[in-house]
Amino acid sequence: MRQAGRYMSEYRALRERYSLLELCRTPELATEVTLQPVRRLEIDAAILFSDLLLPLEPMGIRFDFIRGEGPAIENPIQTEADIDGLRRFNPRDALAHVLEAIRQIQIELAGRLPLIGFGGAPFTLASYAIEGGHSNNFAKTKALMYGVPAAWHRLCERLADVTADYLTAQIEAGVDAVQVFDSWVGALNARDYREFVLPHTRRIFDVLATSGVPTIHFGVGTGAILPELREAGGDVIGIDWRTPLDDAWERVGTDRAVQGNLDPTLLLGPTDRMFAAADDVLARAAGRPGHIFNLGHGILPSTPVEHVQALARYVHRRT
Ligand code: CP3
Repeated sequence: MRQAGRYMSEYRALRERYSLLELCRTPELATEVTLQPVRRLEIDAAILFSDLLLPLEPMGIRFDFIRGEGPAIENPIQTEADIDGLRRFNPRDALAHVLEAIRQIQIELAGRLPLIGFGGAPFTLASYAIEGGHSNNFAKTKALMYGVPAAWHRLCERLADVTADYLTAQIEAGVDAVQVFDSWVGALNARDYREFVLPHTRRIFDVLATSGVPTIHFGVGTGAILPELREAGGDVIGIDWRTPLDDAWERVGTDRAVQGNLDPTLLLGPTDRMFAAADDVLARAAGRPGHIFNLGHGILPSTPVEHVQALARYVHRRT
């Protein structure tokens, strides 16, 4: 995930001329950025270049990316009226540029690699819409969740519908697999996850079940809720680096595939430590079918690209 980005000089060069949103909204540029890692790295799949927050805008939630600070929402959700005023939209119109990028990328890839599309799970999207940006404790999000549960559930139903429809449109446009990011859901314990999140995330996977493409379900810091993530859905469960892969797989259930889980910080170096940690992940996977080697989260901007190249080569040689 996040295999394109600021650690690549060719990405930084484009970002000097275009904003992140311009890259996302221009199919030719999104295609170019999607292909940058494909050209440089021995990867087994391409991931659509876009951002998780794009569907918020056609709902009426305006945002921008502030350099060095991440996303900033102009009009965060504060009241029940804000939730009831969210707009419905057809992603085939409002996000047509993303779907056009998918078609262009597939022409360029010409079947050499599969393409992964993605969208946000309700908790993570709701947290941005409510907090207005990144949060450490999700205080406003949880205040709505615990304080006005009916409104929380209405919001999550809407977000689940948006993501299910958006991912369906991505599949129609030609992606070969989809990943649902619930990046920040590790902020919840299992009981609250079950009550406030699971039914909504499950709705997305239920809709996708008939699509015929594999689905991946990922969150960070989810060691305490892996069985619940599995229950919500996903052919593959993404694991971060905090839980050893074999323990995590046991908790997910070995009849389900897993993806992970090298700590992205190890890619900063030294490389002997990175290779040893990759060996450890592979040893814990023990050659069992259904393991996708991946990082436990996105690549950091200060990562030397040579280390990413060396890691991908190394894992291919060892498997
Ligand atoms: O690998 C790829 O090519 C796909 C790229 C991708 C981006 N966003 C582009 C991006 C993906 C998969 C995402 C998903 C995304 N966006 C998530 C879920 C994944 C995760 O990391 O858990 C989330 C939470 C977001 C929201 C978001 N977008 C944040 C919090 C930030 C700021 C973080 C930072 O590193 O500055 C972004 C900005 C963003 N989206 C960047 C990229 C490459 C960094 C941007 C830049 O060029 O300024």
